[in-house]
Amino acid sequence: MNILITGCNGQLGNEMRVLSESHPAHQYFFTDVEELDITDKAAVSAFIEAQGIELIVNCAAYTNVDKAEEDEATAMKINAEALSVLGSQGVKVIHVSTDYVFSGDEHVPCRETDPVAPRTAYGRTKYEGEKRLLAVCPEAAILRTAWLYSSFGNNFVKTMIRLGKEKEQLGVVFDQIGTPTYAADLAHAIYTVIESPVWRPGIYHFTNEGVCSWYDFTLAIHELAGITKCQVRPILSEEYQYKTPRPHYSVLDKSKFKKTFGVEIPYWLDGLKRCMGKLNS
Ligand SMILES: NC(=O)c1ccc[n+]([C@@H]2O[C@H](COP(=O)([O-])OP(=O)(O)OC[C@H]3O[C@@H](n4cnc5c(N)ncnc54)[C@H](OP(=O)(O)O)[C@@H]3O)[C@@H](O)[C@H]2O)c1
Repeated sequence: MNILITGCNGQLGNEMRVLSESHPAHQYFFTDVEELDITDKAAVSAFIEAQGIELIVNCAAYTNVDKAEEDEATAMKINAEALSVLGSQGVKVIHVSTDYVFSGDEHVPCRETDPVAPRTAYGRTKYEGEKRLLAVCPEAAILRTAWLYSSFGNNFVKTMIRLGKEKEQLGVVFDQIGTPTYAADLAHAIYTVIESPVWRPGIYHFTNEGVCSWYDFTLAIHELAGITKCQVRPILSEEYQYKTPRPHYSVLDKSKFKKTFGVEIPYWLDGLKRCMGKLNS
């Protein structure tokens, strides 16, 4: 199959590229905004036709949650309007969405059928993207994920390693609960969808297994990085002064993905260990 992977310079896009070596049956076209801007309809159509693309995996997105509050129009263009473009090419689409489509006020893991209630500009644009994609491409597969990190790009893991080396004390919130997700494991899940003997469209939730707070996550990162001189203190969200509200509970129920594709999902700490192994090497 000829597969277009957009946003290839991001965390997930890079992990898709690494894993493509283990899936040599396909021909891959890795692009980021410089090679192919997903908001440019004419360019997308020309690329799909010229390269005989049969499947698009959309890893491109506007992911800066705080900046999206100030410039929702740009976030909407990339996270929503571009999905009408990608979805109307007459090829299969796998798209990635977010836990931010939910309010984060619940105390049980969210299922795909639960009502959405985005609280941020980023969440609104991502939800709009899901709707616009499904409107033109009802056979699309959408994977909602959360708390993504990787050895590629900037993310919480790398920030906590840097701060742990720089500071003697660090306050990290313990009242936001979620599941850290190694982008390599999400990439693996996407290959599972691609190589399923039968195409299985729909919305799925995918994160690593288990739950923790950002505080617990930081302690694990520091332990694995051998950082011993920084004292990590649990703080409340209200002490941190977020520019944009963050969900308190954003755990996703992955039962549908596991049942549909017959897979097990790695525990978040195992994913972190593998990522740290790459960062430490
Ligand atoms: N990161 C998380 O914690 C998280 C959580 C839940 C869901 N997700 C979702 O997971 C997916 C992957 O996230 P990620 O962390 O891998 O994102 P990322 O690292 O920010 O990568 C996104 C890539 O898309 C590129 N891009 C932006 N606008 C584009 C355009 N118009 N055309 C083509 N490429 C464009 C970006 O380039 P620039 O860097 O130059 O803008 C970047 O290389 C996204 O759909 C995201 O919404 C992420």
